[in-house]
Amino acid sequence: MNHQKLIYIHPVPVRIWHWINAASFIVLIITGIQIRYAETLEFMTLSSAISIHNYVGFAAIANYFIWFAYYLGTGKIKIYIPDLRNVVAMAIKQAQYYGYGFFVGKPNPHVMTPENKFNALQQQAYLVIMMVLLPAQMISGLFLWKVKGYEEYVMLLGGIKIIDTIHVLIFFFFTSFIFIHCYLATLGHTPLAHFKAMFTGYEEHHD
Ligand code: HEM
Repeated sequence: MNHQKLIYIHPVPVRIWHWINAASFIVLIITGIQIRYAETLEFMTLSSAISIHNYVGFAAIANYFIWFAYYLGTGKIKIYIPDLRNVVAMAIKQAQYYGYGFFVGKPNPHVMTPENKFNALQQQAYLVIMMVLLPAQMISGLFLWKVKGYEEYVMLLGGIKIIDTIHVLIFFFFTSFIFIHCYLATLGHTPLAHFKAMFTGYEEHHD
């Protein structure tokens, strides 16, 4: 029998953080492309691209603290930490599901609960993104915004070229991430199920 129940999976602060973050990333990527490729492209003026990029960059930084405060304050950050005893085996199982099982109708090896909502691949990806890549992007962005003000740190990290390269490489990463992330988000029990859950908070559970 196919029982269906609703589970509350995404609390309000996570949903607010997530959608502000997604919207700001899209604006940051578009304006970032204009700034990076100013010699070949001009779909907006360079000066408006820079000023939008700066404002939205600060909004994204402030927004990050909603995520950080919520997960640290509630102790729920645990859901981001992989279980080292089985992470490799679970990651392989999950990759097999995404690459094959899903297409032949096999069940998802990971069963989502509020205490264990991420599968092993999501855990690793989200942990690196939230703890390493996003902070690195915010800090390198701040340094590029006021190079003179942060001169000492910029020099300590190897100079402006290094900081700029880090910022651009992480920008490439996030741009590709959004496509993969959106594709994987369509693999719920219906193509829109995970997207809806990120708005309503509730995920349908079938057993
Ligand atoms: C158009 C852009 C985006 C869409 C449509 C989207 C969609 C979704 C959906 C449906 C989920 C819930 C399913 C899941 O956990 O995979 C999710 C979760 C998540 N997304 Fe996105 N996303 C977008 C952009 C981003 C960006 C730019 C980032 C980070 C830089 C991001 C980071 C995350 C994280 C960390 C979670 C798990 C949140 C939590 O429950 O703590 N997303 N996203």
